Amino acid sequence: MVTATAPGKVILVGEHAVVYGRPAIAAPVWQVVATATVAPAPPGAGCTIIASDLGQVLQLAAAGEDEPLAVVARLALARLGVSSDPDWRIELRSEIPIASGMGSGAALSTALVRALFTQLGEPVTPAVVSELVYASERFYHGTPSGIDNTVVAYGQPIWFVKGQPPEPFTPAAPILLAIADTGIRSPTVLTVSAVRAGWQRDRQRYEAIFDAIGAVAYAARRALEQGDAPALGALFNENQVLLKSIGVSCDAIERLVAAARAAGALGVKLSGAGGGGNIIALVEDTTAAAVQAALLAAGAHRVIITPISA
Ligand code: PMV
Repeated sequence: MVTATAPGKVILVGEHAVVYGRPAIAAPVWQVVATATVAPAPPGAGCTIIASDLGQVLQLAAAGEDEPLAVVARLALARLGVSSDPDWRIELRSEIPIASGMGSGAALSTALVRALFTQLGEPVTPAVVSELVYASERFYHGTPSGIDNTVVAYGQPIWFVKGQPPEPFTPAAPILLAIADTGIRSPTVLTVSAVRAGWQRDRQRYEAIFDAIGAVAYAARRALEQGDAPALGALFNENQVLLKSIGVSCDAIERLVAAARAAGALGVKLSGAGGGGNIIALVEDTTAAAVQAALLAAGAHRVIITPISA
């Protein structure tokens, strides 16, 4: 039996603008992982994928082209030179909340791809995992920038520009985040299409906002490389204002943002697609507990305190 895991992720700065070519920074979150296990099945049983968290049982040979997990499994098997339907039972599990901006889809697919390569004893690079997972990401995203599959496959903080090789990225000092879930599931494809509709109506305004978000990403990279947490916090706040101005914040997000700031967070923003999902608050050892308590009191469904490091 073979097992592989993949982390959740957060986008530190730059979501949405990254779809339009601006840079973004993302980091893995190892406190919540997706796991894939491959076990032999009786001869003739074929390959079954069981994703209990999604309530899905897929028979690989019969699954449609609109099933992301089947698509990614077929691509990985083709890359491995397997043309038959192997007798395997693949179980997928995830602790990552679904449709909340933490990359649950990319993590499930990444764990699946890694498990298939391991099952056949073949090494696989993060770049190849990322490429295979990207093919399934479009089902969740519509027009994915590729940032989710990249950060989850590399398992390291990355500087990401669409269409360019990702730069794994080393913060000078670990930063501490409180990640709080609004409890509102918000499919990425919906907010990404709403932003696209806004951009089509008023390209000039949206391009200017995307430029401003890109500038925040460059400044955030400098702050991370210099270990300047207060500067990074101010940039989170600036990024949040810009995200709100393109309509991807919501009342629940604003409530959590205000609560975390009032409790002493250095900066707070939504992370991922918005419209619900998670917020990230930049905290310190001395403020983490108070911020966590304030977020829960303000209605957060779950708060994860996690360091982000190289
Ligand atoms: O999967 P999410 O919710 O973290 O959103 C991905 C980030 C977006 O920039 C909104 C979309 C994309 O493809 O980059």
